[in-house]
Amino acid sequence: MTDSPIHFVLDGDTSVQADGSDPTRTALDLLREHLGRTGVKEGCAEGDCGACTILLGELDGERVAWRAVNSCILFAPMLDGKAVLTVESLAEGGTLHPVQRALADGHGSQCGFCTPGFAMSLYGRSIGAEGTRDTPVADVIAGNLCRCTGYGPILEAGERNPPAGCDDRKTAALLRDLPRAASGRGWFAPQTADALAALYAAHPDARIVAGATDVGLWVTKAMRDLGTVIFIGDIADLKGIEESAEGLRLGAGVRYTEAKEALARLHPDLGELVRRIGGLQVRNSGTIGGNIANGSPIGDMPPALIALGAALTLRQGDARRTIPLEAWFKSYGVQDRRPGEFVESVWIPRPAPDALIRIAKLSKRFDSDISALCGAFALRIADGRVAAARVAFGGMAGIPARAPACEAALTGQPWSAATVEAAAAALARDYQPLSDLRGSAEYRLAAAANLLRRLWHEAQGERVSVLDMALDG
Ligand SMILES: Cc1cc2nc3c(=O)[nH]c(=O)nc-3n(C[C@H](O)[C@H](O)[C@H](O)COP(=O)(O)OP(=O)(O)OC[C@H]3O[C@@H](n4cnc5c(N)ncnc54)[C@H](O)[C@@H]3O)c2cc1C
Ligand code: FES
Ligand code: FES
Repeated sequence: MTDSPIHFVLDGDTSVQADGSDPTRTALDLLREHLGRTGVKEGCAEGDCGACTILLGELDGERVAWRAVNSCILFAPMLDGKAVLTVESLAEGGTLHPVQRALADGHGSQCGFCTPGFAMSLYGRSIGAEGTRDTPVADVIAGNLCRCTGYGPILEAGERNPPAGCDDRKTAALLRDLPRAASGRGWFAPQTADALAALYAAHPDARIVAGATDVGLWVTKAMRDLGTVIFIGDIADLKGIEESAEGLRLGAGVRYTEAKEALARLHPDLGELVRRIGGLQVRNSGTIGGNIANGSPIGDMPPALIALGAALTLRQGDARRTIPLEAWFKSYGVQDRRPGEFVESVWIPRPAPDALIRIAKLSKRFDSDISALCGAFALRIADGRVAAARVAFGGMAGIPARAPACEAALTGQPWSAATVEAAAAALARDYQPLSDLRGSAEYRLAAAANLLRRLWHEAQGERVSVLDMALDG
């Protein structure tokens, strides 16, 4: 059929071979145009609306681990070796799946354009897909937008279909037998970190793609040609999650959903931060390594990890170096990256039990929105003084960056309201934020200062909302 085939299991029971010769053809396009799966809708083509939601399954021992993803920003070769469920997979012999029946009976569908995506997200929850266990229905569908129903009936349809698991032994058997194409024309899919290191050294101009939740948009929105592509999403060596008394090491390929619990154990604010990144479909694809490597000034993980003192391990061929995370970000769009060098892992030291830590994301919409700013504070208070302070912000400069003047105004000073005011004022020396559609420069500076004030008030046992404070403090 093609010299670059991709193989996947469709509907849980059929092995499919498809054309993988265009490495940046989207999975959505392949499913709709090649397989006639027109239930998979294109709403935004940028991962925001969830109309294109499908379930991806991967072998996990004897079972299949399922996760909901946005097919509009997933490249077709990323389906290789996986199982795929679309809304057409749900009904059996013309009988709607209970999730679909509940949506129809409860008037959870009006124009219907969003409905397949909701059905897939709710179906995912009903079979215990990644990120749905012990998760409220509202969080599971936060990455699905509906313009007609007001969500009430959709939430109800979810409540009526609690997690029940599924029998996917047949899918698992088919997945085990699936031929794997290690690479195709213009794309490589190394299976080990060593293979990646060798490949990237030989093709330093190639574009690494992990979850494609950033890179996907470069293709669907900016129409960029990525050139040679190296998919790293299937490299098991990059998926390590090592927790110890000293800290947490996350492989660059660990996805948000996989990292969430370990991060929350390190500090609850980290778990909450992850919950606020994109919708579930984005967290089921996007990686921590991609968030760091992308170098965006408004990436959410970097400020938090910088404040906690994280270090980045980079690999170039067989050589590795470890740098403080803040040193990675040089200037807008520029990182401390050498040719053929990739992010291998990030190390986050475990905060001392008495450390005062606060991580806060401010965005116009609570769910599934990019930050106007994201601030993180890690303080040590001893004998009534600030013994150490690390403060970092995203959205305040061209890169995620520490706040040296604010830190200096805190360190060694009495832990008092006066010190906090001096440190809040110092933020204006650290940052000259931009005004854009997410917030004005004045808003950003005032809100950053208020986050520090809130930390102080909370440390005094008061509960304060940033919204309760006048923006000028
Ligand atoms: C709808 C939507 C909502 C989003 N919401 C948020 C949000 O709330 N907060 C937020 O911070 N981000 C958000 N993002 C952005 C994105 O999800 C994250 O930045 C994500 O972590 C990127 O990871 P990825 O694996 O998808 O990276 P990719 O898109 O695959 O890659 C991103 C960049 O990193 C490089 N790269 C990836 N891995 C490596 C590696 N190991 N070594 C070297 N280079 C590498 C790639 O070459 C590319 O330059 C959102 C995106 C979408 C589409
Ligand atoms: S089409 Fe909107 S998320 Fe994919
Ligand atoms: S039913 Fe119309 S967008 Fe949801």
